[in-house]
Amino acid sequence: MAEWIDVCATADIEEEDVLRFAHGGAVYVAVRDDADNFYVVDGLCTHEHVELAEGFVFGCVLECPRHQGRFNLRDGRPSGGPVTEGLRSYETRVDNGRLLARLDEAT
Ligand code: FES
Repeated sequence: MAEWIDVCATADIEEEDVLRFAHGGAVYVAVRDDADNFYVVDGLCTHEHVELAEGFVFGCVLECPRHQGRFNLRDGRPSGGPVTEGLRSYETRVDNGRLLARLDEAT
């Protein structure tokens, strides 16, 4: 059974911004790109476990603030070193102005 988590209001995330949230003892980030697409991925960099909430968004790429490793937000895959391991990314949907994420099953 899918467990959809209410993350925040879509208006809480500006364009090309990152919002940190925690659930079940884990840290995640919700991201809005420049085309109003929303993504939810793990909140810690796979390189040195730095919080990605202070990262930068370029199109559908999230850049880590520590060493500028890059992740593709569509699937969490690395798109620029030094990261070699991808982030888990999660299914999202928007319902009535709220961003929901399905955290029980990474895509
Ligand atoms: S800690 Fe993120 S790229 Fe090094």
